[in-house]
Amino acid sequence: MKSHRIAVIPGDGIGTEVCRAARAVLDAVGRRHGVDLTYDEFDWSCARYLAEGAMMPANGLDLVRDHDAIFLGAVGAPGVADHVSLWGLLIPIRRGFAQYVNLRPIRVLDGRQAIDLVVVRENVEGEYSEIGGRLYQGTPAEMAVQEAVFTRAGVTRIADYALDLAERRSGSLTSATKSNGIIHTMPFWDEIVAERVAEHGGVTMRSEHIDALCAKLVLDPAQFDVIVASNLFGDILSDLAAAVAGGIGLAPSANIDPTRAHPSMFEPVHGSAPDIAGQGIANPVGAIWTAAMMLDHLGHPEASANIMAALESVFTTTSVRTPDLGGTATTEDLTRTIIEAL
Ligand code: NAD
Ligand code: IPM
Ligand code: MN
Repeated sequence: MKSHRIAVIPGDGIGTEVCRAARAVLDAVGRRHGVDLTYDEFDWSCARYLAEGAMMPANGLDLVRDHDAIFLGAVGAPGVADHVSLWGLLIPIRRGFAQYVNLRPIRVLDGRQAIDLVVVRENVEGEYSEIGGRLYQGTPAEMAVQEAVFTRAGVTRIADYALDLAERRSGSLTSATKSNGIIHTMPFWDEIVAERVAEHGGVTMRSEHIDALCAKLVLDPAQFDVIVASNLFGDILSDLAAAVAGGIGLAPSANIDPTRAHPSMFEPVHGSAPDIAGQGIANPVGAIWTAAMMLDHLGHPEASANIMAALESVFTTTSVRTPDLGGTATTEDLTRTIIEAL
C-alpha cells in the first residue's frame, strides 16, 4: 500500500462541491489499486477572508509544503474582489512553489469529436504581474499601468517542457503569439521558442497569432496537439478549447513544479461558479479528471487510467449528465455513476 498526504483546499462556491466528488472517486479508486490517500483539509477561502482578513495564514505555504500534492476546488466569491481572493491564495501558491507549468489537457470523453490536445500554459510570469499601478486618481488623466514580465529563463523552461511533451505525443507544437501587436514581449517569446525548437530537433512548430488561433480552435480543433502559451493566452485558450470540447465543467488542470522541489497543485480549470453554487448541480468531471492527473503525478498510472476509463464509459454508455451538459443529474448522481464504472 503506497500512502500519500494530500492538502485539500476546497475554497469557495462549487469548489467545495466538486472537491467532495473528487475525494469520493479517489477513495474508491485508491481501494482498488492499493493507494492510500490521507487528506488535510484547509478552510482557506473568501469566507476566511471575511472573518479573518486573509485568504490563508501568513505561513500558509509552509503548512502545505511537505504534502505530496495539493488539491484545490476553486476560489472566489461575491463580496471579495476577485484580484484580492486570487492574489491572496491561488497565485501565491503557484508562484511560491514554482509551479511554472499549467497543464490543461482537452479531450472529448464520448469520442464523438476528434479533439485531443494539451494547453501548456506558462504559469508564473507573463501578463500576470504585480508591476504597475494606478496614477492620477481622481483626475481626468487617471490611468492604470500593468507590466508583463517575460524572462529568458521562464520562456525557455516552458518551451522545453512543451517540446518534450510534443515529442512524446504527435511531434507537433503550436506556439501562441501576438508579435504583430505586442512589440516587446511577444517577439521575445517567439525568438526563444524558435531557438528551443531548433535545439530540440524532431518537433515541428508553428506559430499562430492568438486571435487567429482562437478562431481555428473553434472551427477545426482536431488539427492541434500541444499548444504552448503565455500565462494569459493559455488561460483564455484553455476555457475556449474546453468549451469546444463540451464545456468548462469538464476541464482538468495541473500546476506542476517539474523539478519536484515543491508540491504540485491540482485543480479543475473552472471557477467557483457563484451562479450555481449550493444547488448540488456542479459538473464534477473536471475535478475528477484532475484527480486522475494527480494520481498519475504521484506515480499511479493504473489508478489514473481507471478513472479515465470510467469517465469515458459513463460518457459513452449512459446519459447521466449534469444540467450544464443538458441533463438533470446532480453532482452526486454523476459521481456515483462514475464510481460504479470504475
Ligand atoms: P466560472 O468558471 O466560475 O463560471 C463560468 C460559467 O461556467 C458559470 O456560468 C458557471 O456556472 C459555469 N460553470 C463553471 N464550472 C462549472 C461546473 N463544474 N459545472 C457546471 N457549470 C460550471 O468562472 P467566472 O464566472 O469567471 O468566475 C467565478 C468566480 O470564480 C470568480 O470569483 C473567479 O475569480 C473565480 N475563478 C476561480 C478559479 C480558480 O480558483 N481556479 C478559476 C476561474 C475563476
Ligand atoms: C484559472 C483561473 C485563474 C487564472 C484566475 C482565477 C486567477 O482563471 O486558473 O484559469 O487566471 O489563472
Ligand atoms: Mn481561467
